[in-house]
Amino acid sequence: MHVEMPIVSGLRVVRSAVHGYGVIAERRFEKGEILIHAEGFLYGEDEAFDDTYALVLPTDDLPGTYTGSGGKQIFYDLVDQSRWINHSCEPNSNVESAMDPETGRPVAWWVAARDIEAGEEIFYDYAFVGTAAEPCGCGAPTCRGLIVDPDPEELAQIPASLRTHLRIPLPDRARVRRAG
Ligand SMILES: C[S@@+](CC[C@H](N)C(=O)[O-])C[C@H]1O[C@@H](n2cnc3c(N)ncnc32)[C@H](O)[C@@H]1O
Ligand SMILES: [Zn+2]
Repeated sequence: MHVEMPIVSGLRVVRSAVHGYGVIAERRFEKGEILIHAEGFLYGEDEAFDDTYALVLPTDDLPGTYTGSGGKQIFYDLVDQSRWINHSCEPNSNVESAMDPETGRPVAWWVAARDIEAGEEIFYDYAFVGTAAEPCGCGAPTCRGLIVDPDPEELAQIPASLRTHLRIPLPDRARVRRAG
């Protein structure tokens, strides 16, 4: 399939100091301003595709038609600059999503969590589930050490081999599991 990647003004893909390619602001954005409305393709959790560049959408607001053949998660494979936005444990943007009542399709957009100056890299919190955690190189003072949702339920699911990277306390039950 041929995909035309739209160019969104105000953002540019660059080599990132944190990981691979990243996205920087080409102009100043004020807190609350929308940075980008993402474009993408939808996949259900049981469909075969590379989810590296996909946003996991909450299913609460979305009708069952978007869950492929009945899975619980929906993936939005990003096809514009948003595809390369890296994670930070202290992000300067947040992702929001909703159903577009006119098109019946989900929409996702990034909002500045604080004022962002031209040249700053854009980050959001991936909050990966524990089983999908990856080492984090965001460099923030409060970096969790792993790209992971800080919810204790998710921390308990982090594979033992990755737990040495974690810089926040593990919930008690995960400690017990590690000891056992
Ligand atoms: C959607 S891609 C982001 C673009 C990526 N930098 C690239 O060049 O392909 C997501 C992947 O980038 C990497 N990544 C993003 N943020 C990171 C971070 N703070 N620390 C380490 N790796 C990160 C992880 O491997 C993650 O699975
Ligand atoms: Zn981090």
